[in-house]
Amino acid sequence: EKAGYDHFMLKEIYEQPKAYRDTMMGRIAEDGRSIQLSELGMTQEQVKEIRRIHIVACGTAYHAGLVGKSVIEQLARIPVETDVASEYRYRNPIITPDTLVIVVSQSGETADTLAALREARRCGARVLAITNVVGSSVAREADAVLTTWAGPEIAVASTKAYSSQLIAFYLVGLYLAQELGTRDEAAIAEVASALLALPEQVESLLAQADALKAIAEKLARHNSLFFIGRGLDFAVAQEGSLKLKEISYIHSEAYPAGELKHGTLALIEEGTPAIALVTQEELAEKTLSNIKEMKARGAHVLAVTNESNLQEVAKSVDEQFAIPNTLPILTPALSVVPLQLVAYYASLALGHDVDKPRNLAKSVTVE
Ligand code: M6R
Repeated sequence: EKAGYDHFMLKEIYEQPKAYRDTMMGRIAEDGRSIQLSELGMTQEQVKEIRRIHIVACGTAYHAGLVGKSVIEQLARIPVETDVASEYRYRNPIITPDTLVIVVSQSGETADTLAALREARRCGARVLAITNVVGSSVAREADAVLTTWAGPEIAVASTKAYSSQLIAFYLVGLYLAQELGTRDEAAIAEVASALLALPEQVESLLAQADALKAIAEKLARHNSLFFIGRGLDFAVAQEGSLKLKEISYIHSEAYPAGELKHGTLALIEEGTPAIALVTQEELAEKTLSNIKEMKARGAHVLAVTNESNLQEVAKSVDEQFAIPNTLPILTPALSVVPLQLVAYYASLALGHDVDKPRNLAKSVTVE
């Protein structure tokens, strides 16, 4: 059942190119110039009535929602808030009938996410579920369902479900942009064609997994590290940090690169490891100066950057790993892969049960 892989997690990491293809299939028009999401069940008029979007989820799905916020705001210019379900449901959020609530859940059975969905519906909002399980509780109770076609995810640590949720958000963002006219056909076609290139790009990343194994084995000797990034890179940093904690039990924190000097820099000492994401061209220079601040205090920095930035970034870091070039908005769908592999290999090096980490369950049906 593991199809020759040592663990379900590794198998699922390697299934990501297929998960991307399956999740895009039939949703990007054959000519690549428009997005077809009849699953949303909304007329163009109804799309135009949306005043705000709330994305609600837990854990890794919440991290996908952080990327979703940025993607939808950039493409469709609708204000988006992303919240963890166990906070959202108790904070008396402002939900009106012109709010679109997007709940994200791999299993579709997470108790807090389901409760948030019910609260949103009670307030008269339309609820869209992004889920990986057809017929799950979340799918049954939502007004509309966008299924991620990642296939069954067995490992407790979510990998292909997260990255397929990113694909779902790109499709939703593009669809809203198309219906609202915030992006013209050429712009939609540009993103669509870059999306279609992602599966092969992930394949090329996976072919370099060995380089990450050596890096992860070194990291596994430490008991704490930092992930830093700006913008979308910060969103992915949070997912990378959770993945590492969850299966390697190594403490880590994800920080917006510009926040370090407001307190956290005090923790950096000789040899403190850090993983810096530097994939956003416009922000690269700023993040590089934060990396220099860390290095001046002794940090040992691995940068995950895109090929076009590689030479520049390499001058300021100790180790680097390059992801293929893509549009800035799409980098999370690539940059998360090396972070998943680092977590996997660190867990393996420490001899932990990769697929069934201590204290955790695959589906969290308690509140
Ligand atoms: O099934 P869900 O997507 O609702 O699950 C949400 C979280 O429990 C889940 O993503 C959890 O954080 C993962 N174990 C992280 O790898």
